[in-house]
Amino acid sequence: MSELIKQLGYALVVIVLTTIFYRFNTKQQLSFPIVNSYCGDRDQKKAHQQYQANAKELIANGIKDHGSPIVIKTPQGTKLILPSSLTEWVKNNKDLDHVEHVKEDYFSGYPGFDGQTALHHPSHILTTVIKSKLSKNDGAVPVLNAHIVEALGQRWTESEAWHAIDWHQDTTSIVSTAAASIFVGPRLAKNQEWVDLTVTYVLDFFTAIGQLHQWPASLRPIAQRFNALSNRCRSNMKRARIIMQEENVKRNADRANSHVDYNDAFEWITKAAGGRPVDMAAQQLGLGVAALFTTSEALRQTILEIAAHPDLISSLREEIEQAVLESGWTMAALFKMKLLDSVMKEGQRTLPPIVSLERKALRDTIMPDGGKVPKGTHIAVDSSLMWDENIYNSAKTFKGHRYLELRDSGASSQVFTASSKEHTSFGLGRSICPGRFFADTELKLCLAHMLLNYDLRLQEGYKPKPMYSGFYGMVDPFAKIEVRRVHK
Ligand code: HEM
Repeated sequence: MSELIKQLGYALVVIVLTTIFYRFNTKQQLSFPIVNSYCGDRDQKKAHQQYQANAKELIANGIKDHGSPIVIKTPQGTKLILPSSLTEWVKNNKDLDHVEHVKEDYFSGYPGFDGQTALHHPSHILTTVIKSKLSKNDGAVPVLNAHIVEALGQRWTESEAWHAIDWHQDTTSIVSTAAASIFVGPRLAKNQEWVDLTVTYVLDFFTAIGQLHQWPASLRPIAQRFNALSNRCRSNMKRARIIMQEENVKRNADRANSHVDYNDAFEWITKAAGGRPVDMAAQQLGLGVAALFTTSEALRQTILEIAAHPDLISSLREEIEQAVLESGWTMAALFKMKLLDSVMKEGQRTLPPIVSLERKALRDTIMPDGGKVPKGTHIAVDSSLMWDENIYNSAKTFKGHRYLELRDSGASSQVFTASSKEHTSFGLGRSICPGRFFADTELKLCLAHMLLNYDLRLQEGYKPKPMYSGFYGMVDPFAKIEVRRVHK
């Protein structure tokens, strides 16, 4: 009973505080056309439904009809969508901030969402480690390699007969095991409880975010207290802290017994903290939140496109074999896998986010044409250049050699890790994804081992059906892919 009274008291305080907060912080009305406003749609049900199903068309038609920025209502609030011609302006504008946008939309600071909170902690430990240690780290290659080979053998088996793979489970498992070997070290990468905990935490977190956005903003802090997936995030955080503590004890013992040189994020984070207390569980799950879904989706998209374009397979294999023959399993070899790079980049282009450069205005900001973006506004840039026929010929078609040909014709910046206003999958400007180099290494290693050791194909009669939910594209979660071990 006293627990119930405590909860109700807590709820009351939150309602009063959020009412006061919203009374004094109500965003100013945006004076731009709204593309999903419907008569009688008081609860925004139709607006949100249209956003989920037709964001691409709503934005394209809105910008075409109004010739100006447009507003779209989403469950995450109203978003001001700017035309791609303003990409550079957004990229360079310090008053438009990515971190503040993410903190607000992804509920940084909520109990149990400590992984998300750690990602943008003012100490910047994680981003520093990602930028300095995780990127282009030659020492990571053999570790990743060993874990990918083992996970792949387990998931796709040694069978030389064609067999269907467990699409989502297999790809997620290979990516998460490989990433864990560098994030938390080889010992915990082999610990199924840790790998499962990370995957569950990340899935629960993103699903809980979607569920919480169904609630009115002022009630979300309370809803989060009672939300089952947020609860599981909280209990997994607790368990993660215990596992991290045990790992720390083991590392100290290892060090006492012999000289051990760890080459993983656990170690780099500890060093970057420089003696300050650090919540290693939050840091590690923060890495999972940033890296797991993004990288496994990129892997799924590339596998699916390769399986759908079998003519690419022999050229890819030749390139990988040659690169490894010349340079072994090193960064230098990965650099030589230029067709693979092109296929990965084209895969991203053909399943792009509808908008990019999501930002929050830290103060009133004036656009080049004099229009005002009021403080607090969430903005994003229309990413339609990624499928614009004036930029990419046969833009709707996947062309594995597209970026390789561009590179061969002198456009040396057309590599997977590079970003431009015509290809914004990694964002742009000071918030450009710092993990893209690690993603590049992990993806190339996964794909190289898959291609060298397995034949792959789409199941007969199956056609990939990518899904869009609002701004975000998703690889067909029900893809039917078959593989068989190559006979050597
Ligand atoms: C193919 C895989 C990935 C994709 C497509 C991707 C995409 C993105 C995008 C679009 C942004 C926002 C950039 C902006 O708006 O300018 C971002 C930010 C970020 N990404 Fe990635 N990412 C990927 C992999 C990773 C990995 C593997 C890590 C970590 C190891 C990571 C860590 C981060 C972090 C920490 C930020 C926030 C940067 C900041 O706010 O300053 N990402 N990513």
